[in-house]
Amino acid sequence: PPPAEGDLGGRGRQKGAPGPFSAESKAKYKSTCICFLCQMICGHSLIFFFFFLEDYQVLCKIVCLHMCTFSGTTGTPIQLTANCFRILSRPQWVLYQYHVDFKPQMESRRLRSALLFQHETTIGSARTYDGAVLFLPHRLHNKETVLHSMTRNGENVQITVTLTNELPPTSPVCIQFYNIMFRRILRILNMQQIGRNYYNPSDPLNIPQHKLTIWPGFATTILQYESAIMMCIDVSHRVLRSETVLDFMASLRQQCGNQRFTEICAKELIGLIILTKYNNKTYRIDDIAWNHTPNNTFKRGETDISFKNYFKTVSVVPSTRGNSGGKPFSFKEMIMKDLSTHTRLTPDKREERLSRFVGNIQKDAEAQAELDKWGLSFDKQLLNVTGRILRGETIFQGSRSYEYNPMTADWAREMRGLALMQSPPLSNWLVLHTRRNYNEAQSLVQTLSKVSGPLGFRIQRPVVIEYDDHQESLLRVVVILSSNRKDKYDSVKKYLCVDCPTPSQCVVSRTLSRPQALMAIATKIALQMACKMGGELWTVDIPLKQLMIVGIDCYHDTTAGKRSIGALVASLNQSMSRWFSKCVLQHRGQEIMDGLKMALTAALKDYLKFNKCLPSRIIVYRDGVGDGQLHGVVNYEVSQIMDSIKSIGQDYEPKLSVVVVKKRISSRFFYHNNGNVLNPPPGTVIDTDVTRPEWYDFYIVSQAVQLGSVSPTHYNVVYDTSGLKPDHMQRLTYKLCHMYYNWQCWTHFIYSWFYAHKLAFLVGQSIHREPNVELDDYLFYL
Ligand SMILES: *[C@@H]1O[C@H](CO)[C@@H](O)[C@H](O)[C@H]1NC(C)=O
Ligand SMILES: *[C@@H]1O[C@H](CO)[C@@H](O)[C@H](O)[C@H]1NC(C)=O
Ligand SMILES: *[C@@H]1O[C@H](CO)[C@@H](O)[C@H](O)[C@H]1NC(C)=O
Ligand SMILES: *[C@@H]1O[C@H](CO)[C@@H](O)[C@H](O)[C@H]1NC(C)=O
Repeated sequence: PPPAEGDLGGRGRQKGAPGPFSAESKAKYKSTCICFLCQMICGHSLIFFFFFLEDYQVLCKIVCLHMCTFSGTTGTPIQLTANCFRILSRPQWVLYQYHVDFKPQMESRRLRSALLFQHETTIGSARTYDGAVLFLPHRLHNKETVLHSMTRNGENVQITVTLTNELPPTSPVCIQFYNIMFRRILRILNMQQIGRNYYNPSDPLNIPQHKLTIWPGFATTILQYESAIMMCIDVSHRVLRSETVLDFMASLRQQCGNQRFTEICAKELIGLIILTKYNNKTYRIDDIAWNHTPNNTFKRGETDISFKNYFKTVSVVPSTRGNSGGKPFSFKEMIMKDLSTHTRLTPDKREERLSRFVGNIQKDAEAQAELDKWGLSFDKQLLNVTGRILRGETIFQGSRSYEYNPMTADWAREMRGLALMQSPPLSNWLVLHTRRNYNEAQSLVQTLSKVSGPLGFRIQRPVVIEYDDHQESLLRVVVILSSNRKDKYDSVKKYLCVDCPTPSQCVVSRTLSRPQALMAIATKIALQMACKMGGELWTVDIPLKQLMIVGIDCYHDTTAGKRSIGALVASLNQSMSRWFSKCVLQHRGQEIMDGLKMALTAALKDYLKFNKCLPSRIIVYRDGVGDGQLHGVVNYEVSQIMDSIKSIGQDYEPKLSVVVVKKRISSRFFYHNNGNVLNPPPGTVIDTDVTRPEWYDFYIVSQAVQLGSVSPTHYNVVYDTSGLKPDHMQRLTYKLCHMYYNWQCWTHFIYSWFYAHKLAFLVGQSIHREPNVELDDYLFYL
């Protein structure tokens, strides 16, 4: 059948991982289609006969693997390991899936399990039953087995166990099963589940000065990857307060007084996960019952019992399975710094911890017995993959150009003394400071004028205004504020982004307190100021002409009725140095793209104004999409984007690519060099083995970190009519990594989508309103 109405056939995510290309599915579905990849990669316009399951594009890739590939070839090969272990099953392994029927029907899942497990002699000790489906590692004698059980009340129950499926190791259902199995193994190892990850309470790290404890643990996913079914595993840390909720409430009451206590307490506590020491289980605080005391009672079975007596007498409390998420604490910067010294792991330590964990599974007799029963095991070593290091880029700055050190991807030194590509003069500006910061303000102004000369950035003397750091005085000078510093920043930004559109720069006085670093800091500030006024710092060579790069991100504002904020930025010129930015606020239930459609149309019109032509290629980098939303986002948003393009003119048909970007991923890569375990250098691309069979995806390492392990970024090309080969797509993406102008970060945070991220974040965190249209053409939010 043709794709459903509204289904664009973008190469989106499938509901489950695709199954093997079985004879059955071949016979069921058959269709004709042009494989756009073969057309673009091999250069033929071939018509393929191929077969599809749910989304016709899926198997297109499988079929076309004979003809073309989603992997690139350029760059220098580099041997890496990935944080994945293959799951091995014995030869001819099959999982038997049974349907279980009860007569009369049993409501309670626990009772159903108990009744079924009375028949261990028949079904065996290796079994997994979730209340509906039973999995066994072996085949029962008959296709249908009838069993008889008796409840405690003497009721006879007939159980019918019917074989419904024999599943090969790569079946999507098996992936689910491996996950269930693995959770069981983790429980055998006494790991404690919090949210989606597992932690080890028996190996805590205490940080008494902050009343905190860190539990080491792991985030795991088991999936069908390109080359095998694998468990990908990363180190995770859970930070726990070591004080009790009661202590916390007491000190909070002392700080904020009785009047606002309940309100602040609810804000601080609801959503947090707590651990009860008497059983080492975790719970999430959903609400606080202020009108209750320990003397209140609740129904327990037939009788009423007070909470006080319940906790006195009962040691077994309900299990916490199914608890999910839990909001993170908000810590002060200093505490974060102390924490990161404990939680940041160098590549060798991280690799060692992962290997030790898999080693521990193999050493634990009970865990091993469980795996053996099912005929499964894990690889003993991390997966080997070959990556490719892309060549470093030449940076162009005005008439000058230079290369940077490929191992660090940092060109601060190279650009020293060189003028920026372009920077409008700063002739009319104000500096506002408190009396206390008089000295810092004076030296910043002086140093700015010193460093701006070589940058070619002309700065006139500012009007300096001193204000009293009191609520009333800043009220007069700038705008309302409340007590803490973030509120002050927020109100300044809100005023200057919405009511009186003016580029602005806030500087915390503490950053100016080290005289020896002042030159470097003033340079960074000058560069940011130049950008905010539409200046252009540097560029790289991008051979594609008439190209528009679009970045989209969203942010969920937890205040103000949980609105979503969508941000769209679009490049306006060939050098990718000027950007159009737009932010929309959406109410709950509205799609981000509904609001951003208008923004994209406006961006195209702006492009036309600057360039006297429309872009012939548009590449959209979309951030902020969870795995679960991927399919919806792809199908819905791509059609919205196309609508928006069509609204410019019926016969305007640019080439379009949509790439979903994920930065917070648990994939890690390690580079083994002469016995050392290092981070892969910037520019490393990985597009085999750990990619997904149903996606056109790749990873790029685009930063160099001094401390800890580098996080690669994952790119998933979900829609593509660009005709670009994977090599080109990867290279272009890496080039764009050099175009992020927030000076402190280098290629650390990158891209158009990161501009979009910054914009959404500023609006969500501070402004809570749509910025003034006069700022659309400026990077005012850097
Ligand atoms: C809970 O975990 C701690 C280690 O963090 C251990 O000392 C204690 O005995 C455990 N308590 C129970 C009830 O399992
Ligand atoms: C609970 O009841 C006991 C005895 O009935 C009483 O002494 C105590 O004050 C009550 N506690 C609260 C918090 O109401
Ligand atoms: C990875 O390669 C190394 C060295 O070539 C080898 O010793 C190791 O067994 C390989 N790992 C796996 C999981 O195949
Ligand atoms: C765009 O880039 C060109 C150089 O490629 C530059 O000369 C121009 O000033 C830039 N800005 C705009 C707004 O076109």
